[in-house]
Amino acid sequence: MTEKTADITERAPSAPATNTRKVFIKTYGCQMNVYDSDRMSDALARDGYQATDELGEADLVLLNTCHIREKAAEKVYSALGRLREMKKARARQGRELMIGVTGCVAQAEGEEILRRAPAVDVVIGPQTYHRLPDALKRARTGERVVDTDYALEDKFSHLPQAEKAKTRSRGVTAFLTVQEGCDKFCTFCVVPYTRGSEVSRPLQQIVEEAENLVSAGVRELTLLGQNVNAWHGKDKDGRELTLGDLLYRLAEIPGLMRLRYTTSHPRDMDERLIAAHRDLRLLMPYLHLPVQSGSDRILKAMNRRHTAQEYVALIRRIREARPDIALSGDFIVGFPGETEEDFADTMRLIEEIGYAQAFSFKYSTRPGTPGAELEDQVDEAVKTERLERLQALLFSQQIAFNRSRIGMEFDILIEKPGRQAGQMIGRSPWLQSVNIDADPSETGALVRVRIVDAGNNSLFAERL
Ligand code: SAH
Ligand code: SF4
Ligand code: F3S
Repeated sequence: MTEKTADITERAPSAPATNTRKVFIKTYGCQMNVYDSDRMSDALARDGYQATDELGEADLVLLNTCHIREKAAEKVYSALGRLREMKKARARQGRELMIGVTGCVAQAEGEEILRRAPAVDVVIGPQTYHRLPDALKRARTGERVVDTDYALEDKFSHLPQAEKAKTRSRGVTAFLTVQEGCDKFCTFCVVPYTRGSEVSRPLQQIVEEAENLVSAGVRELTLLGQNVNAWHGKDKDGRELTLGDLLYRLAEIPGLMRLRYTTSHPRDMDERLIAAHRDLRLLMPYLHLPVQSGSDRILKAMNRRHTAQEYVALIRRIREARPDIALSGDFIVGFPGETEEDFADTMRLIEEIGYAQAFSFKYSTRPGTPGAELEDQVDEAVKTERLERLQALLFSQQIAFNRSRIGMEFDILIEKPGRQAGQMIGRSPWLQSVNIDADPSETGALVRVRIVDAGNNSLFAERL
């Protein structure tokens, strides 16, 4: 879960009105929302909107929202409260400010958002944002638009792709959504309701978008999906393909240096995908494979449909195929019915696997999910205490992993300027930020380094 854009606080004085309208997009939640925000920005660019990082100069503010946990959804409403004040101030100056809510809160709450947040003009779900320009036109006539259909048409083929948006700088790394939605229905999770059922984009559409991104300067691609390894497609001859096949295909694109994918589900790690980890030099040795809990009882109640031992055995097979692979995961503490014993099983599993990085959360009751109906909800104080113990363990593993890189030699991909002049930040194969003395002209290059020191969140390297 990353949050990329600036916070909702007005920093610049209101800019004078110009002919070009400006849009400020605040992205919450997962990488799929980051990808979607870019696509919305592209769609709006065709309509004459220019993207801005300055809330003060925006004519349109979009909150691309996340509904995964209660806190995530509440953040949206408090941001909308602040935007309402800003809209009122604008009205006094005779200037327009339109406000749109997109993403998973939009999908989950729909009309309710209009009731709770009177300043909102449009509410657009994750499947319909290609209709955003049209919705804005309607909103400008005074209508309040809610469009949260699971659209029948394919939004991807309606959206301008990288090739048509070449003028926008893409940077060295890019996300590429290959799969959306989820049919797994874990009992804690809203995603099947907010993103709908599992849909894979066709092979050719993905290959074209990847080629366009690479010709626009992208060197590292991260394939995205709520369950990215559930991706499936067909080749020209109608042969069934899975994510492993897609990775072999993308690895052939000239100029592409690195491939990653996220988020995967243990049940969809097939042989072909494991083989891709063994064979493809471009596929980075890093795998985000959430397990959520180490207790079979809880895994069953979560409807994860695998046991802790099956997960451990799977990781063993993946490590045999790619010995230098690092693992990352997601954990939930305090799922209804979780006892101290269940929690101890989770701690044991973490000890056994050894994670390079992980995300962990207190269980958050989500209305409409089966988990919300369960009786033995865990006390908030117990959740807090368990989360602290779990995070202490995961943090010690992260530090140990970072320190284990000291003395190692490998390539880093130079991404962006560092904090000090003369320094750049590169990315290790294991997603760590690496500080190095380098020149901005080296952006996008692979540079061979030796690691000389490690911090909690980044590494320090010298050039070889
Ligand atoms: N598809 C991915 C996860 C997507 S959601 C998978 O199956 O692994 C990202 C993470 O948010 C989940 O892995 C889970 O750890 C966390 N999460 C989802 N719903 C949650 C809830 N109700 N409370 C707390 N954490 C939750
Ligand atoms: Fe949610 Fe489970 Fe689907 Fe992941 S697999 S998105 S946790 S329902
Ligand atoms: Fe959040 Fe929706 Fe992603 S609920 S985690 S933004 S799929």
